[in-house]
Order: sequence, then structure tokens, then C-alpha cells
Amino acid sequence: MSMVDIINKKRLGSKLSDHEIEEAFLGYDRGEIPDYQMSALLMAICANGMCEDEVFKLTDVFIRSGDMLDLSEVEGTTVDKHSTGGVGDKTTLIVAPIVASLGVKVPKMSGRGLGHTGGTIDKLESIPGFRVDLSEQEFIQQLNTVGFSIISQTAHLAPLDKKIYALRDVTGTVESIPLIASSIMSKKIASGADKIVLDVKVGKGALLKTQEDAIEISRLMKKIGEHYGKEVDTMITYMDIPLGTSIGNALEILEVMKILSNEENNYLVALSKALAAKMVQLGLGIPIEEASRRVEDSIKTGKAYEKFMEMIESQGGNIGELRVSGYTKDIPSSKKGHIIGMDAYQFGKLSLDLGGGRKTKEDKIDPRVGIVLKKKIGDDVEVGEILCTLYTKEEGYNLEEDITNYYTFSEEKDQPLSSTNLF
Ligand code: URA
Repeated sequence: MSMVDIINKKRLGSKLSDHEIEEAFLGYDRGEIPDYQMSALLMAICANGMCEDEVFKLTDVFIRSGDMLDLSEVEGTTVDKHSTGGVGDKTTLIVAPIVASLGVKVPKMSGRGLGHTGGTIDKLESIPGFRVDLSEQEFIQQLNTVGFSIISQTAHLAPLDKKIYALRDVTGTVESIPLIASSIMSKKIASGADKIVLDVKVGKGALLKTQEDAIEISRLMKKIGEHYGKEVDTMITYMDIPLGTSIGNALEILEVMKILSNEENNYLVALSKALAAKMVQLGLGIPIEEASRRVEDSIKTGKAYEKFMEMIESQGGNIGELRVSGYTKDIPSSKKGHIIGMDAYQFGKLSLDLGGGRKTKEDKIDPRVGIVLKKKIGDDVEVGEILCTLYTKEEGYNLEEDITNYYTFSEEKDQPLSSTNLF
């Protein structure tokens, strides 16, 4: 069948055979199918979806385009974690040391930030000396000694997904449940962990905007896991507001250290504990209540903090050299009221504009810049009170926009967002 026939078949809503999926996607990988034809097929998939068999086949094609990481030399159970990403999302850095301190191995390959969302690897690179490029052997060795390691995703893992993702990014074909599910799961399966916990984000700052979509993708990703004999658990969590109190690379590392020192208590902390408990439950095969109790203990006793520091040191990082910018600017509120909303997307963009992210793949990040939020959902604010502090590259940073507009105020003290207890 020609590529045009395959595109037409999907455009009319029919199921593609295994052979047709291979022809189209492997053909694209070999450079035989041009971008415009693959874009048309992706758009037809966005419009008409894929059935489970098609999603399994596509995931398989992505996995087989690269290498599978062999973690058989790692002693004990390995549990991986993936978050569909967001603003101020530092959950991996909190969850992994907690889980590793409780005897479950966490092999974590992470990505860099793109657009308004941050990436774990950029956050870790704000620590001078930190190596994100351990060899496979070093990665496995650290898993056996420290219990967890966080490295940059290697180029050999599902490389065809990377190519297709880059095309989706510029053709309006990112937001498709079968395409997102096969993209994420191909990388998770190729990464080799025994079990996987997925943090599926829903809301304004997330890829998935409705709970129905989040439920559907969770179901599908579990099915893909089952197909490969992997136990997968998911949590649907909320991504309308920035997670935690800091946005920006070095600032977020400092926030992680505070959380692991048991000095914070907010939605991010609750979310991280819940994710960690799920990973411990899966990894040790114990009831969730017992897993939650151990997670609390790990933070209270300082074990999780020590584990975090052990990982940083083992990967060459010098935490004493971590720096945030010395130039700060307090942002006063131009309105009075009760905060009922904060626009995660706008805060992510602001951090990007301050130099904390990349606008093109070649941009260099300034790890010292970012935002510290002083007011949160549910707080009452008077005109002139400080909403947040910007850490800027230089003194006298001027903003054209009023950041007060990133907040939604209510005159009444009504319910703070009900979805803050989504999980
Ligand atoms: N993250 C991925 O890795 N792939 C997608 O398609 C969406 C989010």
C-alpha cells in the first residue's frame, strides 16, 4: 500500500494493519517518507484515533528503532517514574531519594525543559560539576551503591519517537491520546525498569486539559505496560498552578532541599509523598498505608535528604557552589482580594523570559534566575503586598506586564480550587 493509501485509510477512520504502521513509520525513519506525508498521517490519527492494537504496534516500532537498556545487573526491584510535565515540577527530585532510601531502586532518565515547562536535567545542571551523562555501566553501578541515579535520556532510546515528536511539535499533532501514550510508554519500556509509576497531569498548564482524557490515557498506558509484562500504576494530578514555591533551576534545587529537610508543607509535598508511596508500594509489595508511613519516616529522619546528597556527590555535583542570582525584584500586588487561581502557563513563560529556559534548542540557560512565589492559592492579599520575587540576570529588570494579572482574585473567601486534592 502506498503512503497516500495509508493516510486515506486513517482519514476515513479505519484501522491500520501492523504492516501498514511499519511501512509508514519505519519508512519515515529510513528517510523514504517525507515530513509532509507523515504530518498528514499524524493529523489523521489525531482526528480519528487508534485502537489498542494499533497503539501497541506503534509503541513497538518506536522501541525497536533504538536500544533497550538492560538493568538485569541491578540488584532488587527497579521502579521508574514519569511525569507528563509542568511548571515548577520538581517531583522526581523529591520522590527518587525518598524511594531509594526505602530500598527500592530508581533508574531515572529525564529530559530538559522545552517551551514554558522546566526539565529535571536542567535543574540538576545548576549544581556545578553535576554529571548527567553517566555511562550505562556507571548508571548501573550507582543504582547498586546509592540506589538511584538521574541521567539525561540517551540518544539510543526510542530515537524514532524523538523524530516524530519533533514533527508533532510543529504540526499541531501533540495532543493526541494514542500518540502521547505510545511516545511516553516506548521510552519507559526501553528504559528497562521492572515497574513504572506515571504522574498524569491535567489542567491549564498540562498537555491534557480534561479529567476524561487523563483517565483514558492512564488506562491506555497501563494496557501498554501489561502488553510488555510491566506493572504500571498511574496517578492523575493537578497542573493549573505552578507546583511548589519556586520556578527556576537553582531555586528549585534549594526548594527540594527544604522539602527533604521537612521544612515545607504544601500541595507539591503532598503530591510527592503520594507518588513516592505508590512507588514503594509497587517496589516492596506492601500495602499503601505502610508505604505512606515509611515515606513520612524517611523525610522526618533525614534519610531522604542524605540520599539526595549522596546522589549529588556520586554524580560529581558540588552543592556548596550552587548559586542563585544576587539581583532580585519584589513584585507588589496591584489588586486586593482572595487568590483563587494562578496561571501556571504565564509563570512558566515568565521564567523563560528571565532566561531560565530555552526559546530555541541552542539557547543557553541561566540557572540562577527564576521566581519565588510569596502568595499562594487561598491567601488574602492587600494592594502593595508582595506577590512574588524575581531573580533576574541584571539589576533594574523592567517588566512591561503586571504580574498581578497572572493571579485570579475573588472578593469572597470562597473555596480554594477543589482540584488541589485530585489524587
Ligand atoms: N511527553 C512525551 O514524551 N511524549 C508525548 O507525546 C507527550 C509528552
